[in-house]
Amino acid sequence: MRILGIGRALPAQAVSNAQLEQLLDTSDEWIRTRTGIRERRIMREETVTGLALGAAREALADAGLHGRDLDMIIATTALGDDLFPSIACLVQQELEADCPCVDLHAACTGFIYALDTADAYIKSGKARNVLIISAEGLSRVSDWTDRGTCVLFGDGAGAAVVGLGEGLLSIRLAAQTGRALLYSAAPAQSCPFTPQNGDGAWGIRMQGQEVFRFAVSSSARDLQAAADMAGLSIADADWVLLHQANMRILQSVRQRLGIDAARMPTNIHRLGNTSSASVPMLLYDLYHSGLLQPGHILALSAFGAGMTSGACLIRWDKPAPLNLRAPAETLFFA
Ligand code: ACO
Repeated sequence: MRILGIGRALPAQAVSNAQLEQLLDTSDEWIRTRTGIRERRIMREETVTGLALGAAREALADAGLHGRDLDMIIATTALGDDLFPSIACLVQQELEADCPCVDLHAACTGFIYALDTADAYIKSGKARNVLIISAEGLSRVSDWTDRGTCVLFGDGAGAAVVGLGEGLLSIRLAAQTGRALLYSAAPAQSCPFTPQNGDGAWGIRMQGQEVFRFAVSSSARDLQAAADMAGLSIADADWVLLHQANMRILQSVRQRLGIDAARMPTNIHRLGNTSSASVPMLLYDLYHSGLLQPGHILALSAFGAGMTSGACLIRWDKPAPLNLRAPAETLFFA
């Protein structure tokens, strides 16, 4: 499997920490120093499906392919605009694609899980070109009265078209049960024959420090395992792209593995935590900064609710795009 094209779509509205100060008992200083986040994009008129479609169209154009060339669409999301149909089905017609469509749910690790699924379909000969879309609208899942969580999240979508090739050097996925650490309860049910059994409260619930520990240990372990599987060391990776959950998580993983800060780009200051969309959107920014060059080795790592985690190593083979949409100065380094 190799990546043929990538795309991204963001809501127009940027919400700064200063704006959150008007709504919550919080401060720009607290959010910046604890998380690295300065602003995030929040959907106003946009929809998760619309963002997914925008990212998908750009990825297809970047790959030089048409929707008719797709053999499968895999979308990852915590919550689409509807419980069903899937986002993958909703974008299919607009893309004029005629192929199986499915949503895959692995929380923030969704993009890495989808890469692994696409790779398996391509390897087995069941698919040649697979579109992966990671589209998230966590602003709609957040509890906007909980300052401990709602300041973290943002909305956006990243997409990749993948096809036959030798770009994927290794991939490692993991999961363990851990609902209490990070969950969002299902909406209350109204079936007259079923007692209400949920805790009923809408919104993300998180044990922040436990999640922090999980994120650092699983990311460091998965990256090391993926490097071992590829017969490489982490020092061989030109770029290490982590799920943009929290700047301090990035720094802890970086220090634990001895990674040079200049090799760990971040856009969390502009986009916050966008769950499964964060790794492909960071890849998009790196690609559109012109810094990512053919032959470079990328290490991707994500972690999230489940608890799930995963990492992979990819040898990049695309030249930088002619029209750079994310100048290098918009990237920070962990
Ligand atoms: N503004 C001001 N004060 C706040 C805010 C806020 N937005 N949120 C919490 N506080 C207060 C708390 O009430 C607490 O006050 P107290 O000492 O008076 O009780 C104090 O700050 C410290 O709270 P902690 O929860 O202990 O803060 P911590 O240093 O752990 O930081 C954070 C919280 C940023 C969530 C951290 O635990 C973290 O980064 N965890 C990792 C989890 C994460 O990144 N999750 C993202 C989603 S999951 C994922 O993507 C995998």
